[in-house]
Amino acid sequence: MDGSSLDRINFNFETVIQEICDLGWAALDEGAVIDAAWAYYFFSVQFQENLDVARDLFPGDEKLQHLASEECDTDNLSPWPGVAGTGEAMNHCEFMRRVLTLSPLPEAKRLAFEASGARYLHAVRHTNPLTRALSIASYEDGGLERVFTAMLTTLESDNPVLRGFRHFLSMHVKFDSDPTQGHGAMIRHLRPDDRILPLWTAFRDILVEFAPALTAGRAKTSVGDDTNASHAERKRA
Ligand SMILES: [Fe+2]
Ligand SMILES: [Fe+2]
Repeated sequence: MDGSSLDRINFNFETVIQEICDLGWAALDEGAVIDAAWAYYFFSVQFQENLDVARDLFPGDEKLQHLASEECDTDNLSPWPGVAGTGEAMNHCEFMRRVLTLSPLPEAKRLAFEASGARYLHAVRHTNPLTRALSIASYEDGGLERVFTAMLTTLESDNPVLRGFRHFLSMHVKFDSDPTQGHGAMIRHLRPDDRILPLWTAFRDILVEFAPALTAGRAKTSVGDDTNASHAERKRA
């Protein structure tokens, strides 16, 4: 094992990524997948905002600009029924927002989700700008590809929210997975460390808050476990 991969394993945020992957995605019913998609929507807003922060911090970074061109004001998820016309460009978080409108929640539930989402975004927005920028590298260079692959084990149905969310996820796995031309290659020069751990734990927590059934069918690691303990177990394995 070389030094760089050893460094990555030593970060506790990697353990949280694995915890998210090990949640009970495959056991969710249709309503719970929609709830999880709502949680993911708020994550996608902070992704967009963190990418903007990174661009402000590193205005001359051409790879970062290239990445932004594939995440912001882009038609690479278009067309999609009820969401995006042919060639219509938008930010990816806007795509998710529109997907969620295809199967509206009862108003009380929507308001509760929006209040929780606002609290989550408030916390992210009060995170140090460099930390927010570094989070993008962890999202794009394998982190979200792993999470999205786990999310794609959710049930398939004709519900338009599930179909749109699945389109978003599968396209992102494609965007992120190419080792030399994918999104990870555009960002891995920003090297994340455990300063970003609170952003990953906040993502895990909002997913579980919105879709509590995720904790019922989870595998291996446990939400709320001490991450160091989990990490020590992984190192021994
Ligand atoms: Fe995206
Ligand atoms: Fe990406």
